[in-house]
Amino acid sequence: MSDLQNLQSDSLAAIQAAANLDALEETRVKFLGKKGLISAEMQKLGKMSPDERKEYGAAVNVVKEAFQSALHSRKQTLEEQALEDQLSLETQDMTLPADAYQLGKVHPVSYTIMEVGDILARLGFSHATGPEIETDFYNFTALNIPENHPARQDHDTFYLKPDASGERKVLRTQTSNVQIHTMEKFEPPMRVMSIGRVFRKDSDVTHTPQFHQVEGLAIEKGLAFAHLRGVLQKFLNDFFEKDVTMRMRPHYFPFTEPSAEVDIECLFCKGDGCRICKQSGWLEVLGSGMVHRNVLTHCQVDHTEWQGFAFGCGIERLAMLKYGINDLRLFYESQAAFLKHFGKSVSQV
Ligand code: DAH
Repeated sequence: MSDLQNLQSDSLAAIQAAANLDALEETRVKFLGKKGLISAEMQKLGKMSPDERKEYGAAVNVVKEAFQSALHSRKQTLEEQALEDQLSLETQDMTLPADAYQLGKVHPVSYTIMEVGDILARLGFSHATGPEIETDFYNFTALNIPENHPARQDHDTFYLKPDASGERKVLRTQTSNVQIHTMEKFEPPMRVMSIGRVFRKDSDVTHTPQFHQVEGLAIEKGLAFAHLRGVLQKFLNDFFEKDVTMRMRPHYFPFTEPSAEVDIECLFCKGDGCRICKQSGWLEVLGSGMVHRNVLTHCQVDHTEWQGFAFGCGIERLAMLKYGINDLRLFYESQAAFLKHFGKSVSQV
């Protein structure tokens, strides 16, 4: 029996002496492995008489259970210790440089809207808005585009299904609808701008089904074409950040009379003629004119007393020309590389 007691105290001492999990495993094998010292004592039972086996078996079991329970608790202690050791090794070094991470950028359409808005605000224009789902009246009729007028076909309009009253609304094809809403709501004089989404059934290198326009409208007493020209020259100089050469070309818009398209000298070839200006030396940037008296009359503005000018242009077109972006569709493909290149960091806008 004293042999068994020695075995027990040796085995428990060995467990306490195991300094780490590997050493503990070795101890387990040494005592309880196939050829282990405690296992050897248990194997002796097979050769004993039943009486001997009963007595010796109980004694060996005591040794074995004491060993197993000590083994279990030592294992827990060593595991906790191993975890602590590992955690202490993993403490953070606050002096290391931080990992690089990418900050989002402001989309060129968004910052062009901000730039245009700021410039026009400095010229006295305040923001006005109107619905994107519009009635035929505000998108066309009130702007002096009568039913069946060919000008309607230029717009490739998205029509909605007729509502209960049979009225077929449209996705507005131009921000000019806001002119009407604003003149209906407010008394002149007024100077407003409207920047927003417009929609046309069109998609190629220079057209997308959704794009943005900015619209300007001024109604004042004594406004003349020269004021329009002055405002546009200032607007274009400020936007392109240089003295741009501009020209006004006679054109037709149903809602202005006279009407003019505005071109600027090609920013890329300085007027010599290149692929971008199609060898003409000029780039078309916006539409404009003196508000047609029919439009004023529709909105109950007395055209003998008040004059108005208006202009409108595509935001994406302005951005393409200023930043040298050559495909309109890039604005809407959401490619990270495009944003990385043409986006502005938040601190720049
Ligand atoms: N609405 C016109 C378009 O979509 C642009 C335009 C031209 C707006 C002349 C105006 C204007 O206000 O006076 O092409």
